[in-house]
Amino acid sequence: MITWKPFTVKDIIRETPSTSTLVLSGKMEMQPGQFIMLTDFATGEKPFAFSFVSENECGLTIKAVGKFTSAITRVPVGSTVYLRGPYGNCFTLPGKDKKLILVGGGCGTAPMRLWLRHLLQHGYSNITFINGARSADELLYASEFRSYPIELITSTDDGSEGYAGFTPDILREVLTNSAFDILYTAGPELMMKKVHEVIGSTPLESWFLLERYMKCGIGICGQCTLDPAGIRLCIEGPVISGEVLNSIDEFGTYTRDAYGGRKVFAGIGCT
Ligand SMILES: Cc1cc2nc3c(=O)[nH]c(=O)nc-3n(C[C@H](O)[C@H](O)[C@H](O)COP(=O)(O)OP(=O)(O)OC[C@H]3O[C@@H](n4cnc5c(N)ncnc54)[C@H](O)[C@@H]3O)c2cc1C
Ligand code: FES
Repeated sequence: MITWKPFTVKDIIRETPSTSTLVLSGKMEMQPGQFIMLTDFATGEKPFAFSFVSENECGLTIKAVGKFTSAITRVPVGSTVYLRGPYGNCFTLPGKDKKLILVGGGCGTAPMRLWLRHLLQHGYSNITFINGARSADELLYASEFRSYPIELITSTDDGSEGYAGFTPDILREVLTNSAFDILYTAGPELMMKKVHEVIGSTPLESWFLLERYMKCGIGICGQCTLDPAGIRLCIEGPVISGEVLNSIDEFGTYTRDAYGGRKVFAGIGCT
């Protein structure tokens, strides 16, 4: 049975001109990488990953790209929103000796932040994080990341902060100079496609957090199915291994709209 849990919007933090964090009062049991379906019972219902969870609060960092995300990031503080889930698979903790590299681009930095915090809480110390955005004003959690005991590499497409360039190009450089065991990434699909190409035939284990238009979120409607393997992203994902992505033809090529029609990815920017 599907049940929605009410959460009070305690605060809305304007992170960047396009992106806000809904701070919700209440506890949510979930694992990094999983997602929930969020609704206000007025504008619609859409999937989101958490950007933080604590004992009595949790946060959704949302980029306003359309009708639902524009409305939900403007609800009054004190109002109630409803969550169902968590759904999907999650990132799993690797061996403590592993050298990890995380790549977050644009809004994909939100679930990467939760994963990073989780790793640090569990005592992982060998972590490099590439945090990219289009421009300095769209960089998420920049000062928070600077306070962590990690190797932080910041990049912007326009060079307004950190390295100038796209995150996959920075990744290529980093991988030329250092070896890692596992890569985790979330962000725009064109960025992740290029990350996938960069790691190519290296032995690096890799995990990608994908997004697709979702309706049911529980494996019934078929809306989020990936061609040609028939993987339902809401059940077998949203975390997919780089190895499995080798056989997903639509990865980085097209997604589907609300009616199931193909929507080709376009653009030169990555974040
Ligand atoms: C597992 C998962 C986790 C997600 N986590 C986050 C998150 O933490 N923060 C966040 O801001 N967004 C996240 N999203 C994406 C979010 O669900 C969409 O941005 C949202 O559904 C857009 O709704 P809308 O009505 O505002 O826009 P729409 O009117 O539905 O779409 C506006 C534009 O955005 C595109 N779009 C819509 N949904 C997606 C999608 N899933 N992937 C790529 N493009 C899309 C549409 O094609 C259209 O061009 C996640 C999606 C999934 C599947
Ligand atoms: S969203 Fe319905 S099957 Fe995945």
